[in-house]
This record gives sequence, structure tokens and C-alpha cells, in this order.
Amino acid sequence: MEISIFGAGYVGLVTGACLAELGNNVVCCDIDRNKIERLKNGEIPFFEPGLKNLINKNIKKKKISFTLNLEEAVLAKEVIFIAVGTPQKKNGEVNLSYVKKVAKEIGKNLKKYAIIINKSTVPVGTGNLVRNIIKKEYNGSFDIASNPEFLREGSAVFDFMNPERIIIGTDSTESKKIIKDLYEPFSCPVVNTKIETAEMIKYASNAFLAAKISFINEIANVCERVGANVDEVAYAMGLDSRIGNKFLDAGIGYGGSCFPKDVRALHNIALNNNYKFKLLKAVVRVNNDQRLLLAEKTERLLGDLKNKKICVWGISFKPNTDDTRESAAIDIINLLEKKGGKINAYDPKVDYEKLRRDNKFKAVNFYSNKYDALKNCQALIIATEWDEFKNADLRKIKKLLQKPNIIDGRNIYNPDKMKKIGFNYLSVGRL
Ligand code: UDX
Repeated sequence: MEISIFGAGYVGLVTGACLAELGNNVVCCDIDRNKIERLKNGEIPFFEPGLKNLINKNIKKKKISFTLNLEEAVLAKEVIFIAVGTPQKKNGEVNLSYVKKVAKEIGKNLKKYAIIINKSTVPVGTGNLVRNIIKKEYNGSFDIASNPEFLREGSAVFDFMNPERIIIGTDSTESKKIIKDLYEPFSCPVVNTKIETAEMIKYASNAFLAAKISFINEIANVCERVGANVDEVAYAMGLDSRIGNKFLDAGIGYGGSCFPKDVRALHNIALNNNYKFKLLKAVVRVNNDQRLLLAEKTERLLGDLKNKKICVWGISFKPNTDDTRESAAIDIINLLEKKGGKINAYDPKVDYEKLRRDNKFKAVNFYSNKYDALKNCQALIIATEWDEFKNADLRKIKKLLQKPNIIDGRNIYNPDKMKKIGFNYLSVGRL
């Protein structure tokens, strides 16, 4: 199929690369000249396992190309994806200005029937908004559809190629058939539904997963008080197929570009429709508070943090990504700095220069080696569960730290083993 994708960001590039790999001819369009130039040379603007190879392979096969030219991107395409950013406004609402702008450009450049599919996570009703914008510019026939993505950063290529469900929201039989054909290589269930329902499925899924995380985090906080072990509680809960064993890892809360934004957006969508989504408000509150607990635990071990050197391992919002958007680690470092702590930080993938440019911290010292970052520190905080932290040399950590304190925000070590080695070890929901 002839496909164009508007928005060469995270969702757009993964979708484009995977659809090209499946044999389609894909062109990705973006307004960022620098990004498009780099992509033409096979350079990916962020780290995502497997994506660079896939894009380079399909550039060579001439299955994927990149352009700044909107007209070229719309010309002779059967399927046009909108995958532009939908950032959050200050009031928690979704900023649809990029979606609207792209819809207008598509309308101006359409010459024949095409399906315009929304991949960006957008409030219910946006499908119709896009339809009306295009209608103003183009009076031929076209269809609108919603086809939300469920890609996790760090495993997005795998997730695209191994979907658990495909949601097709459209009110036209022709577009339903074309989108079904597009996903023909996959054997997972396909849910055909209205545009509004498809848009809601995405929010409901992410909000539910966020709620699951906040729930287990509150259970963890109670576990600490009653002497129970949250890992074992979560494991046993997960054996019940009605609950399931995923997204029950207690820790310092969820972050990233989706959960925080989508939970707030759904809360706002409900409010704008005269409904108070009480549960979601609590989900956000629990998530914010969970980050504070780690700083409290650090104070429990070190006392006043003023001028105390503390090492933080992990800055990305989760492992296998360089993304720091709404990362719990960032909030924790900020809090420790506010309390007077002097921070050494290490992350295997995060771009330290970008953090410096964005003024994320006061005076953090960044290291390119995790062990070097420990020197003269009175405590180590684990903020992200990278594999290299799980496999770290514990005795070496103990030797390098000035005091053997570890506050583990991701429960990556065994408490009994840590105590045996001689660490003062605090984790989440385990004694
Ligand atoms: C999420 C959704 O999973 C994906 O379907 C959607 O389309 C985009 O948003 P992503 O943000 O990449 O994906 O990360 P995910 O793996 O879902 O984790 C989100 C956050 O929750 C991370 O900060 C992670 O550390 C945290 N988390 C996850 C927990 O704290 N505990 C868990 O058990 C699982």
C-alpha cells in the first residue's frame, strides 16, 4: 500500500518503519528540517531498540523515505496516518494544534480518495474535528479512522510486530476493509468499532494500567507498615487470571510520555462532559506522592541531606529508552537537590547535554561509568531498573560508597542478600 505518515516522532517512525518492513511504500513527513535530513541519512533522533536497523534496511530497499514536502506526502496515497505530538496544556487538556494544522494541510493537498487515520492519542471527538477541517479544504471523498497505538517505549518495534489487538474505529465499510488489509499479516483479534469508541479504548487502557500501578504502590506502602512483602503479594495476586501478573511492580511510580498525560487528559475529558472521574484523581495523587517517599527514605538513612553526596542510578523514565519525560528520577533528584543534597548521576542512555540545556537540575555531576559515580557518596538510589544495575557488582558498590546505604526505588535487589552483604537497604513495600 502507498502510505504517508505525518509526524516523524516516536509513534510515526515506529509505525512507518514497521509498515515498510511489511512491504508497504511509506513516506514520513515532518516540519523539522534537521530531523528529516538526519533521517534521510539513517540517523534516528532517539534511542529505540531495533528501530535504526529497520529504518536503514528499508531506506536501502526504497520502502521508506522522508520528506518536508507536504504535497508530496499526500500525493497518490491510499492511507495517511496522523502521528503528530499531542502535548499537554498547562490545564491538563490536550493541545490539538499540531493535529489541526496537519489536517488542514492534508485537506489542501488531497486530490483523490484516501483514508486519514489518527494514531496520535486524541480526545474523543477529534476524529470528527479532523473530518470537518479536511472538508473545508477538499470536497472530494475521503474517510476518517482512529487506529490507536499501544507501543511501549523500549519495545515498540516488537509491540508493533506482535500486537495483542488491533482497533479500527471507522464508520465506512471501504476504509474498514483497507485498514484490515493493512494489518492482514497479524493474527490477533481485530476490534471494529466507531471512531469515538476507538479513541476511548486508548485512554481507558492507559488509565487502567496507571491505576494498576498506583494500586500496587499503595499496597506496597501498607506492606511496609504491616511487615508484608509486596513482591510476593503481587505475584500471588497475579496468579488470578482475572487480575493478571503484569503492571504490578511496585516502585516510585509511572512516568513517560503517555501515562501521566493520558490519565490527566481522561480526567479532563470527563470533567468537560460534566463527570468527575474520582478514581483518576487519586491515581495521579498516589503517583506523585510515591516519588516523595524515596527522598523520605534517604533522609531516614542519612538524616539531614544538606551537603550530603548522593548517587542516583537511572534517569530515564524506564529502562531501554533515553526518554526522561515525566521521569520519576528527575523529580527525585530535584527534591534531593532542594533538600541540599549533592547529586552524582549515571544513566546508560540518557543525553546529559540535553538535560543540561533544558536546565533540569541545579548542579548534578553526570558520569559515564556507574562505579565512578559512587565515589564519596553516602547513599546510592536506584531510580530506573536497567539490567546493568541488576547485574552490578554489589561488593564493589559497597567498597566505593562512603557509607553502605542503598535506597532501591525499583526493588531490583533481594533484601536478605543485601543485608547479608552489610548494606542498609531500603526498597518499596519490603522490609
Ligand atoms: C505506555 C503503554 O504501555 C503503551 O501501551 C502506550 O501506548 C504508551 O504508554 P510506555 O510509556 O512506553 O508505554 O511505558 P510502560 O512500559 O507502559 O511503563 C510506563 C511507566 O509505568 C514507566 O515509568 C514504568 O516504570 C512504570 N511501571 C510499569 C511501573 O511503575 N510498574 C509496573 O508494573 C509497570
